[in-house]
Amino acid sequence: MKEWAASRWMPRKLILVSNRGPYTVKNVNGRRQVERAVGGLVTALEPAARSLPTVWVAWAGSPCGETSCSPDEVSEFAWEQVTLTQEEVDKYYGGFANQALWPLCHYFIDKCRFDRSHWDAYTWVNKKFALQAFRHTTGNSLIWVHDYQLALVPHYLRSYGAANIGFFWHIPFPPPDVLGILPWCREVLRGLLGSDVIGFHVQQYVDNFLRCAETLLNLNVDYDRGVVQYHGRSIRVVALPVGIDASTYAALGKRSDTLEAAAAIRQKVGTGMVALAVDRLDYSKGILERIEALARFWARYESYRGRLSLIQIAAPTRSAVPAYRDLRRQVEEAVGRINGLFGREDWVPVYYYYRSFPQHELAAYYTAADAALVTPLRDGLNLVAKEYVATRQNDGVLVLSRFAGVVEELREAVVVNPYDADGFGTKLKAALEMPAAERRRRMQILAERVKQRDLEWWLGSFITLLAGKETGEVLVKRIGKSKRAVAKLSGELLEEAARA
Ligand code: ADP
Ligand code: G6P
Repeated sequence: MKEWAASRWMPRKLILVSNRGPYTVKNVNGRRQVERAVGGLVTALEPAARSLPTVWVAWAGSPCGETSCSPDEVSEFAWEQVTLTQEEVDKYYGGFANQALWPLCHYFIDKCRFDRSHWDAYTWVNKKFALQAFRHTTGNSLIWVHDYQLALVPHYLRSYGAANIGFFWHIPFPPPDVLGILPWCREVLRGLLGSDVIGFHVQQYVDNFLRCAETLLNLNVDYDRGVVQYHGRSIRVVALPVGIDASTYAALGKRSDTLEAAAAIRQKVGTGMVALAVDRLDYSKGILERIEALARFWARYESYRGRLSLIQIAAPTRSAVPAYRDLRRQVEEAVGRINGLFGREDWVPVYYYYRSFPQHELAAYYTAADAALVTPLRDGLNLVAKEYVATRQNDGVLVLSRFAGVVEELREAVVVNPYDADGFGTKLKAALEMPAAERRRRMQILAERVKQRDLEWWLGSFITLLAGKETGEVLVKRIGKSKRAVAKLSGELLEEAARA
C-alpha cells in the first residue's frame, strides 16, 4: 500500500468479503499451521488482493475462540479474519450454506436440510461479516462480496449506508421452481439485491436469477440489458465466467522439472494411458459416478485392462457435513472394490489420493494425463478443466460433463452425461482413440479460448463494471507482477504444511 501512496493516482481501496479466506489456520497440537485454501474462489481472488490496496475480510477456516487465531504474516495484503464460534460454524457454514444452499443450487434437493436455527445463524453471521467489512469503507472504496455463504451481506452493507457493492455468485443459480423450495428464498434474493453489480459464471444463471427476481419478488426486470429495478436502483446482472492464470499454467507445462515429474508419474503408473481427475471430494463432482463408469468401461472393453489407469486426486472438504463424510467412505469403498475386482500384479486400475497438492505438482499430473475427466453432476463453472487445457496447450483430451458451467466456453471438449455410465464409456473410448491431429486441433482452440478469457480478463471486467475503466485497467496491469509472487508463496506454504 505504501507503493500506492507514493504514486500519482491513488487507486480505490478494495474490500474483499468471502467466507473462505486465502489460507486456513489450524491449531495442530498447540502449533499454529497455515495452509493454502483449496477451491475456485480463492484461486480466483488472490491476484486481485495483491494488485489493489486490499483488505480481505474472511473466516480463518477453522472454528476459533476469541484468542486462538491472529491475523497472519504470510499475506502481503491485509487479511482480516472473522472469528466464528464452533456453533456458528456448524449452523451457518455446515448447516445453512452447505446443507441448504449448496445442495439446492446444485439440484440435490434430497440432500437439503432446512432448519430455522441454521437460517438464524446464517443471518447473524452475514451481519457479522457485513459489520466487519463496513468498518473498512471509506468514501470511494469498493466492496466485492463473494458466494452463497454471504448472500445477505450486500443488503446489510447497503442498510449501513455503504455503496459501490459488487457480488459474485460462484455456484449455479437455479430457476424459480427450484429456488422457490427454499423457505427463505425471498430474503436471499433481497440480500443479493443490496449490490450494484451481481456476477454469475454463465448466461443461464443470469436468466435464472432474473426470472427469480421477477416471479418470486414481483420486480421489474429487463432481460435484454440484464437489469433489475429494486428500491429505486438499477442493478446490473452479468455473466462473466472466472478465468485462470493461463500463462502461469502454460509456463509450468513447459518447464523441465514439470516434464520430469510427469514422466515419473507415468512410469509409476506403468500403463500406456493415464486418465486424471482432480476435485474437492464433493458429491457435486460426480467422483463416485466416474469411478463406477470406469469400472463399466473396463468390464466392457477388456483391451483397456492393464492399458489405462485412472488417477483420482480428491482434496478434503467440508468433512463435518454428513453427506461429505458418507461420500468419502463410498468413494474409498468403490476404489477398493474396483481395484480388487480388476487389478493385477502389474496393474492398478485406480490410484486415489485424498489430499491437496501445490500448483506445480498438479501441473505435473495435468502434463502426465492423456485425458482429464472433468465430469461433475453439476458445477458452477469448473476451473480444473481450464487448468488442464492451459497446461497441455496442444495435446491431451478433455472429457467434460454437460452439467459443468464451463461447457459453454469449452465446446471442443468431448462432452459426456455423467449419469449415463455406458454413454460415458463410449465417449471415453472415442476420446482415447481420437487421432493425434484432431486431439491437437481441439486442444489448441481450447487453450486459446482459456488464454483470451483468463483471470486478468475476469477481474478487470468485473472491477470495470463496478468501478469504471481506470480502476479496471490499473488492476489488470498490476496482476502480472503479483501473480508470480502468489505462485511462489503458495508452493512454499504447502511444502511447509507437508513438512509439519
Ligand atoms: P470448486 O471451486 O468447486 O472446488 P473448481 O474446479 O472451480 O471447483 O476449482 C477448484 C480449484 O481448487 C482449482 O484451482 C484446483 O486446482 C484446486 N484444487 C482442486 N483439487 C485440488 C487438490 N487436490 N490439491 C490442490 N488444489 C486443488
Ligand atoms: C466452491 C465454492 C467456494 C468455496 C470452495 C471450497 O468453490 O464456490 O465458495 O470456498 O468451493 O469450499 P469450502 O467450503 O472449503 O470453502
